[in-house]
Parts: sequence; C-alpha cells; structure tokens
Amino acid sequence: MSLNKAPKNNVFYRNQNWRYPKVERGEGIYLYDVEGNKYIDGCSGSAVANIGHGNKEIAEFTKEHIERIAFTHLSRWTVDSIEDCAKKVAEWAPGDLNHVYFVSGGSEATETALKMARQYFVERDGDNTSKWKVISKWNSFHGNTMGALSMTGITSRRKVYDPILINFPKIPQFYHYRNPWGCNTLEETSIKAAQALEDEILRQGPENIAAFISEPIVGSAAPGAHPTKIYFEMVKEICDKYDVLLIIDEVMAGFGRTGKKFAIDHFGIVPDIMACAKGMSSGYTPMGAAVASDEVFETIMVKGSGHFIHGHTYAGNPLSSGIGTKVLEIVEREGYVENAAKQGQYLMDKLQELYEYPVVGDIRGLGLMIGIEFVKDKATKEPFEAKVGFKNIVMQKCFDEGLIVYPGGGSADGSRGDHILLAPPIKITKDEVDELFEALKKGIQAASQI
Ligand SMILES: Cc1ncc(COP(=O)(O)O)c(C=O)c1O
Repeated sequence: MSLNKAPKNNVFYRNQNWRYPKVERGEGIYLYDVEGNKYIDGCSGSAVANIGHGNKEIAEFTKEHIERIAFTHLSRWTVDSIEDCAKKVAEWAPGDLNHVYFVSGGSEATETALKMARQYFVERDGDNTSKWKVISKWNSFHGNTMGALSMTGITSRRKVYDPILINFPKIPQFYHYRNPWGCNTLEETSIKAAQALEDEILRQGPENIAAFISEPIVGSAAPGAHPTKIYFEMVKEICDKYDVLLIIDEVMAGFGRTGKKFAIDHFGIVPDIMACAKGMSSGYTPMGAAVASDEVFETIMVKGSGHFIHGHTYAGNPLSSGIGTKVLEIVEREGYVENAAKQGQYLMDKLQELYEYPVVGDIRGLGLMIGIEFVKDKATKEPFEAKVGFKNIVMQKCFDEGLIVYPGGGSADGSRGDHILLAPPIKITKDEVDELFEALKKGIQAASQI
C-alpha cells in the first residue's frame, strides 16, 4: 500500500493524494479492508471509536429504536431517549454542568459554546454589553466551522479562510516541549501559560472578553500536551476575577479517553461550559453537546429570555441520543474509563523505549491519548522541513505494519513540526497494547531510516 491517488468516483475526498483502502468491517480495535487486510485502529478514527467497532449491543439497540422512532425535531418534541442521554451526560460531567444542549459533532459543540457565552452576557447585562471576544490559543484545535475555526490556533487550517474569520485574540499553549518562555519544567510552563491569559485579558480589556476556551489536553494541534494542575487552577481564578466564562473543549478527550470521565477531572476544576462529542457516541452516530452550568443555563433560560437563539435540525436526534446513552452505559459497565487509565500507563511505559530513535523528540499524554513528536535533531529540537512530510512517512510505515495512527503537523512554527496521535479504543487489552506497540516500533524504525 502506498500514497497514491484517491479513487475516481463521486466522492469529494479530503486528500486526492491518498489511496483510500476500502473498509469492509470493524471488530473491536481492528478494521478489515475488502482485500482481507487487518489493521489496528490505533487512533479510533480521530479518538472517536472508544468502545471499539462492531458492537452488537449497539446494533440491536439501533434496530429496535429505528423501528420505533428515528427522528423528531427538538424544537417541538421531547423523547425518553433524549432526556435519558442528557441525564447520563450530566451525571458524568463535573460539578453543576447539568444542562445538555445537543448538537451533531465537535465543531457544532464549540460553536454552540461560543454563542452560549455571548448570549449569557447579553441576557445578564443587556444588548449593549461589550463582552463578545473569546480568547483561545495557538496550537489548539476547536473545529472547522467559521466560529470554531476562529478559535482554532492551527495556522495551516486558518490561512485560506483568514480574511473571513472572527479576529479572536490568541495566547500561547501549555506546549512545554516548545514553550516560548524557555521554561525547564512543566510546572513553570503551566504557570507562564496561565499568566499569559491574565495579560491578554488586561490587554484586550476585561469588559470585551466573554470567554476563554481551552482543551484540557491538546488533540490534533500538539497531541498529548497537557499542563500540571496549577494551570487550570490559575485559569479558573483568572476567569472568575475578570468575569470571563471558561469553556473546556472535551471533544477529543472526553468520555473516558484519558482515564477519567472528562480530562478536566485530572485538574479538579469545573468550567462554565463544556463542549463534547466523539467518544460520546463512539462513532456509532454523529453526536455532540455543549453542557452548561446552572448559572449559564439559568441566566439565559430562567431569569433571561428563556430562549437560546441557536439550534440545528439533527440536534437531539432521538436515535443518536439513545445510542449515546447506550455507549456510556457500556463504558460504565465494562470499566473502560479505568481501563484507559491502566492500559494508557502500560502503553506510556512501553513507549519510553522509542526514545532510542533519534527522530523521537517527545512522548506525552494522559491515559489513552498520547502524542509522539518527531524531530530532525533531538538535541536542538529542530523539526523536519515541511516538504519532507515526516508525519506522513511515519503514518505510511505504520500502515505497512497494519497500524493506523493519526498524523498532524505545524506545531513548531505553523508549517514544520511532525507528530502522531495514538488513541486506540479504550476497550483495548494488554495483549492488544503489546501488538500495537510492536507495529508502532517497526513503523517508526522504518521511518527513521529514510
Ligand atoms: C478538541 C477538538 N475540538 C473540536 C473538534 C471538531 O470536531 P468535529 O470534527 O466533530 O467537528 C475536534 C476534532 O478533532 C477536536 O479534536
């Protein structure tokens, strides 16, 4: 299998220079193509397929539900499955994040959070409130729709659309490996990164800032990068001090992936709004949500106009909600959150061996959300030139070993900086981790010989 041309058919694929193998079926952590080749899904698509592929319980539930009811519009009807899913998500969510606004994916979730934050201040302070800006970070990803992309800090994804994006302020990420402050410890980087928020709020004027958005652990932009606890403690304090809402983007990290129900649980704080998707339905249906605190909900819906000016046709789809609840029940029953913590640690311990390769610069992560960053020179952290496409070489070599990893780039300076995300289904067993590791090691070894 080699990088090649996309098949000629009516599909508008993402990348014309990739030969798309045709998947026939999936089972557990494995995908099988039509030629009978077996692959370990080492990234669950993009940290989506948490409970693994081919779950029979979900298949049976879906059939039964579709026969009963597939679609109603949330502007007019409520259905048991929608209420049950909201209840389950609220039970999982920390603190008073009790109000679940359903959407169909991650970009819709962050975009909804942004609008919720703006409407919160309009309802609380009146139409003339100047609070509208959302501070976000470089080396972050919050989605590809215009509001979400405006908050996203991956320059290659923004460049073409830059003139039509909202000009939101950006601060540096808690990306210790390439931190701009010359910090030697993660704790120092975490403190500097949090102080950058206060500096930016003061520069912009707190009266103009509605929210700050952060991933709890970085996904595709600098996979696996995370701060120490002090970062979110400081961020929460700063947000409270300047009357700024804190939005946590759990789209990739949420629902067990990092070994806690939500990744923010590692840091012991409760945001005002949480965006989630992906693992929520494990890919069995498009699903997402923005989860609001009591204060945000009551300001808009109880003390305010009672009408959140937003909504999408497929939001709160009864079938998707039912699948979401079922997925979370399975995760609870099977102990997959604890498994993610255990197998994540086991995998992380094994991965340390990869530092023997000169191209492996940094390995970081929490639970089963792990990033590996590749460099041309380990001592100076000099990245490969973008034209080398090292991330794609690693992906291809792993692919040849029957392992799918999620490549990403641009973390060093917008165009250079190669990395992969490892995020296998959180149902993975110890033996399967061993298998994944062996394939990965061979893939990286082959890539490092180019
Ligand atoms: C942290 C984060 N937020 C938002 C999104 C956007 O989600 P979607 O692709 O479902 O729109 C992603 C997608 O990878 C993500 O990782």
